[in-house]
Amino acid sequence: MTSPFPQSYPSTRLRRLRQSAWVRNLSSENHLTPDDLIWSMVVHDGDEPTIPVGSMPGLFRLNVAEAAKAARRASELGIPAIAIFPHINPERKDDAGSEALNPDGLIPTVIKAMKDAAPDVGIICDVALDPFTAHGHDGVIDADGYVLNDQTVDLLRRQAVMQAEAGADIVAPSDMMDGRVGAIRDALESAGKVNTMIMSYAAKYASGFYGPYRDAIGSASALKGDKKTYQQNPANSDEALREVAMDIDEGADLVMVKPGLPYLDIIRRVSDTFAVPTIAFQVSGEYAQIKAAGERGWIDEERVMMETLLCFKRAGACGVITYFAEAAAQILNA
Ligand code: PBG
Repeated sequence: MTSPFPQSYPSTRLRRLRQSAWVRNLSSENHLTPDDLIWSMVVHDGDEPTIPVGSMPGLFRLNVAEAAKAARRASELGIPAIAIFPHINPERKDDAGSEALNPDGLIPTVIKAMKDAAPDVGIICDVALDPFTAHGHDGVIDADGYVLNDQTVDLLRRQAVMQAEAGADIVAPSDMMDGRVGAIRDALESAGKVNTMIMSYAAKYASGFYGPYRDAIGSASALKGDKKTYQQNPANSDEALREVAMDIDEGADLVMVKPGLPYLDIIRRVSDTFAVPTIAFQVSGEYAQIKAAGERGWIDEERVMMETLLCFKRAGACGVITYFAEAAAQILNA
């Protein structure tokens, strides 16, 4: 890099700016605040208040009442929004994911309870069928198990409108069907939901890092095959820009890159290329890695948690969806 300033030793000693906390803080290029955090939360439709998720130590599936309490805690901690993910009774699953469209189902019930408890906290809902399908795919499948694009989009637009009508502030299509953002925007406009925002999982990769999540929402054992015919190839970066460009064109208000840490280069490219709020998703497998190594004493869990969250900011994200939101906000507020 060429610099207009002379930068030679000893006139420049970069360690001068690192000698004590106050000057490190003063010269810090990026900052993490509770405003940057979106709380990733798993809810369930049973009576039990909290159910631990084995592959995600410290994470619990919450029932409706506990989710409402958590929304109040988010408000107190200054966490702007919560992204909710459902674990439903397997008996309610079918091949078409019909429960996804039930206006009295778990997600609309949780949205209403959270909005009553904490009206100032934004609610983000995943638009995809995988928590509701017996086969664990994000859409409807044909006889060969191939996920059908246009038939799925038709269901997703109905799912999104149902969520918006229940009070969701942001709908977040995570399915990676082509054309779904435009179809959902169109459906929201027709339903009069002109202020419901769309956060598209624009660059979402077919990743091994989602393993613990599928355990958390109970779709792991059902899933046949993988999601490579709809989620992106981890080898590709230009393709992410095409995905993001199309989603913005179709009406996405915010775009997301997912997973997070192995894809910081994608966050950087997306945020440099498009003037649209870019969100990172620190996914379940990233959480589980940090937890597992922390439990063994191999890394300092708290330190690594805060470091990774700050790194998303440095890479260009304006916010991070994370299972660490509550813990990180507690530290930031201390
Ligand atoms: C489902 C969805 C997934 C995640 C969020 N929404 C998993 C998948 O695509 O299989 C992953 C979240 C995580 O791993 O924390 N469409």
